[in-house]
Amino acid sequence: MNQSFITGLELDKSKLLNLLNLAHQIKAQPQDFAQALAGQSIVTLFEKPSLRTRLSFDIGINKLGGHAVYLDQQNGAMGSRESVKDFALNISTWADGIVARVNQHSTLSTLAEYAEVPVVNSLCDLYHPCQALADFMTLQEVYGDVSGLKLAYLGEGNNVTHSLMLLAANLGTDFVAVCPKGHSPDAQIVKQAEQMAAVNGASILISDRVEAAAGANVLYTDTWVSMGSNVSLEQAKDTFMPYQINTQLLEQTGAQTVLHCQPAHREYEITSEVMDGKNAKIIQQAENRMHAQNALLVTLLNKQY
Ligand code: CP
Ligand code: NVA
Repeated sequence: MNQSFITGLELDKSKLLNLLNLAHQIKAQPQDFAQALAGQSIVTLFEKPSLRTRLSFDIGINKLGGHAVYLDQQNGAMGSRESVKDFALNISTWADGIVARVNQHSTLSTLAEYAEVPVVNSLCDLYHPCQALADFMTLQEVYGDVSGLKLAYLGEGNNVTHSLMLLAANLGTDFVAVCPKGHSPDAQIVKQAEQMAAVNGASILISDRVEAAAGANVLYTDTWVSMGSNVSLEQAKDTFMPYQINTQLLEQTGAQTVLHCQPAHREYEITSEVMDGKNAKIIQQAENRMHAQNALLVTLLNKQY
């Protein structure tokens, strides 16, 4: 596989399936991987807040025998005290890998261009590929084979939607994004997904009509307002409320499974009734962040696997 994992497109279908297999193995037999990153240090850079990503990388790296170093913006924003290029050049001399959550995708491209160690995207404005790995790992746990499933995403077309759509296209899962007018996923990324889906016998549909989610096996949502936006959830409510995942929608669509990347805003994009109900696999999904990321790190940093 390519050295870095920035868009998720670095992995073709077979590499993606191998990586997900490894994630299941790591989850089942963690003791077999306890030294997989022995002696390796990974810097985790965060320009934005995080609970799941920060902790799942930190604890996950520790479970692989490696060492994680967290760097936030308190000592100076990336690119302000010194250039992103110099960040990459310096960090590469000490660390074996970089995980970065950034405001702009271009920051990741620059890090990857100048770093001599693998760079992993842990969320940017366009993608959240580590999230999508965990999402499909979870769907494999529920359904086994994910090809032929129908996955409906409802809400704002955003970084999470993009990565979910691209992995769906790669794995042969039919994908529907149901988003209000003006909030559809990025047209270029939709095009890329459509091309991949065609090769893998799957479909991509973008709609503003909730009816498009009918017959979905899986419903997925994310916040209506992503980090960095100055729109409040209350302001977003009028536009997005028809796209809420609630019991009525679950019954209407006939979906069996509900996912949410979290952080969730109960009674906004998802009701507590659904979030705490039997169809939700949301906590399992959060747990799988760590196993999927560990599989990614082992693949990137340990040639033995
Ligand atoms: N899903 C996710 O990335 O959560 P955090 O923002 O808490 O890391
Ligand atoms: N779309 C959300 C995802 C959070 C994990 C955001 O970018 O804030």
